[in-house]
Amino acid sequence: MIELQHTTKTHDESRQGEALDMLPTGKSTGRKLYIESYGCQMNFSDSEIVASILLDNGFETTRDYKEADVVFINTCSIRENAEQRVRNRLKEFESAKAKNPGMVVGVLGCMAERLKSKFLEEEKLVDVVVGPDAYRDLPNLIGKVDDGSKAVNVLLSREETYADISPVRLNSNGISAFISIMRGCDNMCSFCVVPFTRGRERSRDCHSVVKEAHDLFNAGYREVTLLGQNVDSYKYTRPVIEGQTPEPAVNFAQLLAMVAEVSPELRVRFSTSHPKDITDEVLHTMARYENICKYIHLPVQSGSSRVLELMNRTYDREWYMDRVNAIRRIIPSCGISTDVITGFCTETEDEHQETLSMMDYVKYDFAYMFAYSERPGTLAAKRYEDDVPEEVKKRRLTEVVNKQQEHSLYRLQNFVGNVQKVLIEGFSKRSDQDYCGRNDQNTMVVFPVDERFKPGQYVYVLAERCTSATLIGRIVD
Ligand code: SAH
Ligand code: SF4
Ligand code: F3S
Repeated sequence: MIELQHTTKTHDESRQGEALDMLPTGKSTGRKLYIESYGCQMNFSDSEIVASILLDNGFETTRDYKEADVVFINTCSIRENAEQRVRNRLKEFESAKAKNPGMVVGVLGCMAERLKSKFLEEEKLVDVVVGPDAYRDLPNLIGKVDDGSKAVNVLLSREETYADISPVRLNSNGISAFISIMRGCDNMCSFCVVPFTRGRERSRDCHSVVKEAHDLFNAGYREVTLLGQNVDSYKYTRPVIEGQTPEPAVNFAQLLAMVAEVSPELRVRFSTSHPKDITDEVLHTMARYENICKYIHLPVQSGSSRVLELMNRTYDREWYMDRVNAIRRIIPSCGISTDVITGFCTETEDEHQETLSMMDYVKYDFAYMFAYSERPGTLAAKRYEDDVPEEVKKRRLTEVVNKQQEHSLYRLQNFVGNVQKVLIEGFSKRSDQDYCGRNDQNTMVVFPVDERFKPGQYVYVLAERCTSATLIGRIVD
């Protein structure tokens, strides 16, 4: 999944460990919730659903786990080091729990789903284990722990989309927000644990998606990112209601248009696109609406057709290039980013070179790059030997990262001298004399504060210079 940060990184868990902000208290019972999220944006989005469910049940929130009554960690299983981080973090909760034995410690998300009740045996301080489709059961499960037992619910669902739950926006800048439009994944890429941890793919009611976008816009938000593991396979068919004419199914291109129609002042982004499914209809819809950002995250994984086949990605090198050509043809200004895995089972040096040459072909604006990490239970773990030595995986990763750095700089330099439309997100991290925001292509732009403009407004910025990850400029009229 795509990240908020737009710098060259090798791990998507780097946005790990975000704790939630203080939130207004509702009908409080005085119990305090602390929640920390790891992994992809879907997980961060889920934490907002969890917070909403618990706030409705009288909880308050805290940013300090030491003073919490309930400590949740929303986990990721995508690579082994993602799981290791969670285990290390749980160790840090031990002393807080020793001081406050009534503290409930819960593991949520993908690692909970993968390990199920085994978690309770492996990590003694954990009281409750809850998979991604069981969050409605949380108040009940916490009640069981209060009564002295441990609790587990890892049932996956074919229907649950939490469509009716209005997420509580955590760590929000009040300007950009995520909207989950689907859950699960049916793709079975051979390296990937997600189909096992998140279950079958299902699409959320398009009307509830549009309503959420409307509500966000009315609350002052100016950018929404539609989230799914494979947004291009979004398909919503409303259940047939007796006596009413059935509505036709809505596909992703149509959903994009519906959200873009909420307001021309609302920017629309989305992630992740799958190369096998992204259609020209989606590209034409993007071209048609000024407020749909010209930016596509199109994970390639490998540049070799043989490796792609082993990965069960169901496209080959030529197909991927054809999709990139279609993007360039239909949306010439479009930014493209990707995910790459180095050292997948049996990958040869020549095949690694094909990944590098694919990168040269596309010249990605940005990439997330990973060394292959075998995940128990996946097709690759069952079928293929993880036979590329660790140091070879790492060396190939370094080559991929270095190449991407060249390309990121090339793309940024191409913006220098041009005027960018930027949505002001707030003050820059470094200085409150500067604002920051993104251009259409998702590149971070930093420029001096101008009192006439506030966060949430659009400005035109002349990019005067760049670093490897940021454009620096000034507002022009
Ligand atoms: N649904 C998205 C990807 C979600 S996982 C898609 O299909 O593109 C995010 C990224 O993690 C993947 O694109 C892949 O590059 C990486 N990844 C997934 N499993 C991995 C593994 N076992 N080892 C290393 N990287 C992995
Ligand atoms: Fe994993 Fe593939 Fe699904 Fe992405 S499309 S979540 S990589 S199985
Ligand atoms: Fe996301 Fe990690 Fe799960 S990437 S879907 S939180 S395994």
